Amino acid sequence: MYRISELASLVGLSRTALLYYEKLNLIKGKRLENGYRVYSDRDVQQIRLIQQLQSGGLTLAECKSCLESKLDKSVLRLRYDELDNEIKRKQKSLALLACLLGDKTSKPWHETLAEIAPDAHIDWLKVQGFDEKQALRVKWLSKDMNEHDKYMQDFMSVFETLEFWGPNSEDDTTKAFNWLNLNPMRILEVGCGKGNSTIVIAKLSNAEIVATDNEKLALEQLEDKIKSHGLDNRITTECVSMTELNFAKGAFDVIWAEASAYVMGVENALSKWKPLLKDGGLLVFSDLAWLTDKPSKESINHWKSDYPDIQTIETRKLQIAKAGYQLEHTFTVSEQAWKNYYEPLEERLHKVAAMMKNSQAIADIQNEVNLYKSHLGEFGYQFFIAKKL
Ligand SMILES: C[S@@+](CC[C@H](N)C(=O)[O-])C[C@H]1O[C@@H](n2cnc3c(N)ncnc32)[C@H](O)[C@@H]1O
Repeated sequence: MYRISELASLVGLSRTALLYYEKLNLIKGKRLENGYRVYSDRDVQQIRLIQQLQSGGLTLAECKSCLESKLDKSVLRLRYDELDNEIKRKQKSLALLACLLGDKTSKPWHETLAEIAPDAHIDWLKVQGFDEKQALRVKWLSKDMNEHDKYMQDFMSVFETLEFWGPNSEDDTTKAFNWLNLNPMRILEVGCGKGNSTIVIAKLSNAEIVATDNEKLALEQLEDKIKSHGLDNRITTECVSMTELNFAKGAFDVIWAEASAYVMGVENALSKWKPLLKDGGLLVFSDLAWLTDKPSKESINHWKSDYPDIQTIETRKLQIAKAGYQLEHTFTVSEQAWKNYYEPLEERLHKVAAMMKNSQAIADIQNEVNLYKSHLGEFGYQFFIAKKL
């Protein structure tokens, strides 16, 4: 037999708690002739049983009902679901901490943030020590700050020798140019890459062109092309981010951005670049869009992770109008433009894949090429020619 203080220290409860248990008839002390209350081994076991039930998340009242076989199963189901959710939340917290500590890939974390808090995500990456260029590349490419340098090294070793860094063709660029309905004097190109479009629009116009990109390697190759085409009196290059275009207000008749506005987000680009255009000036951009109402699961899952801001053409039209432009024309980029991009890319992948086994960058690029080959048509690049109002 145990006195209440002995029982309390045995089961790790306070005296008051035991008296409350007694009041609920969960344990039954015997009063001795000397007035002391004592408890049996049975009471100890009863309390241990209750403690087990409590560890399943039941309240004391629910434990009592359970012991009396009166507990509704729905209460147990509710507790089960609550606990299940809590465990999932905790597992997420654990995974997050592991990725912040660098023990695990941070891909799921970056994918979530890119979708729910894109601007705060970039700011946070900058605080972690990434400059803007690398922060945007974590967002769009590696999605993993812990493996970022290796990822970019592999990524660039695929792309640096390639001419096309996105779907692009002379015919599509020419078609878009022919919708301008003006003779531009000054054109700003944003995200020009190696300048496939730059040379085309230079030849179609008499304009002065400022071709900008934040990748030096691409601009160096464009400079060679400019010289070889004898266009150095009209085209200048500037290595600058599309988020920091410090040109005078109204400096350009046309802003040209093929497959690049996505980097800062189309809506952002529509508003931030607008002051650089003259009134009545034109913004020409191409962007990935849904071309069907019912895309396949594969396409949805892929772009949910790689380009969560992919929109239907109708949504982009609304955004263009909301930002104070009038849409002059829109058309879907040709299949040839895609082939120009992914056929040499696939060839290059075949060449380097054997030397770069287990590379996440190679696996991601290959997945993307596979998706183009199997599902192009559900999505595609769409050109928009929009006049500043
Ligand atoms: C898909 S490529 C398109 C290149 C080219 N416009 C074409 O159609 O072939 C995107 C380009 O945007 C550039 N880019 C990425 N982030 C940028 C940034 N923050 N500022 C300027 N250019 C950027 C890349 O270096 C790349 O050249």
